[in-house]
Amino acid sequence: MKEQLEAILRTATNAIRNSAAAPDLEALRVKYLGKKGELTAILKQMGKLTAEERPKMGKMANEVRASLESALEEQAAVLAQKALEARLALETVDVTIPGKAVEAGHQHPMYIALDEFKEIFIDMGFEVIDGPEVELSEYNFTKLNTPDDHPAREWSDTFYLDNDSKTLLRTQTSPMQIRAIERYGVPIRMISPGRVYRKDEVDATHSPMFHQVEGLVIDKGVTMADLKGTLNAVIQEIYGSGTKTRFRPHHFPFTEPSCEVDVQCHKCGGKGCPTCKGEGWIEALGAGMVHPKVLSGCGIDPDVYSGYAFGFGLERLAMARYKISDLRLIFENDIRFLEQF
Ligand code: DAH
Repeated sequence: MKEQLEAILRTATNAIRNSAAAPDLEALRVKYLGKKGELTAILKQMGKLTAEERPKMGKMANEVRASLESALEEQAAVLAQKALEARLALETVDVTIPGKAVEAGHQHPMYIALDEFKEIFIDMGFEVIDGPEVELSEYNFTKLNTPDDHPAREWSDTFYLDNDSKTLLRTQTSPMQIRAIERYGVPIRMISPGRVYRKDEVDATHSPMFHQVEGLVIDKGVTMADLKGTLNAVIQEIYGSGTKTRFRPHHFPFTEPSCEVDVQCHKCGGKGCPTCKGEGWIEALGAGMVHPKVLSGCGIDPDVYSGYAFGFGLERLAMARYKISDLRLIFENDIRFLEQF
């Protein structure tokens, strides 16, 4: 029996020391120390021993049990430590590795230009107002003194939303002049940016949807000198101080007199180049003194109040500001293009 106990101690201790995982240890415990285990099997033979041998073997068996139990405990601790080390190695964070940069988006260049533009007008005491893109013909044309047979009303140019030409996608932001007067009365100083729609084919300078910024000032004693002074000041801010302007007579139904304002070409300084199509000047906006019929149509006495209005093309403004040569780049939203701003 002594040899048997010694053999168990030897093989079991070996097996325990060599076990590589917690479940293996448990299997060994059952194999040697369990109810049907090898040590128990030996103890069952104690009855066959002499009275003299029995306590000796009993003592030895207890020592083997205690020794195996502590071997199991030690090995459990060793395995736990190894598992911890493995997990720590796996979860190590190398704080010296450069981080992944988060790519933040930013505003579209046209809206950057619009924000700068708004800032200039806000500084001069203008309100910024918003209005509908789906508009009534009455506001888009009639109240703006546009005759029924005016070519701008043609179905070939305008997106109408019904068969009797009553509603449409606004072709200009000018109806906001009427809406602003109706909403706020006079005196008024406002700009109103937004989308406008025309049946144009897409090319380098045209798009069926584009943006305008309307402006309107009405007060007592407003003259063409105010219009010129204000627009000149704004253009110096946008295009740089010293930029030359040219006020050229033109016709718009809702202003009288009307003009188009040209800015000296930023590319060639007025000599003539492909950007200005050899003209030396680039058209920047339409403007004029609010027509007395528009004022009286809104219930304002043209003998008491006068005003001026203007309409900038926002894409053109952004294109000049950032030297963009093709309108399509503004709408295509190609990341490689947008990232440059
Ligand atoms: N609405 C005109 C257009 O789309 C631009 C314009 C011209 C606006 C003269 C004005 C103005 O306010 O006074 O061509």
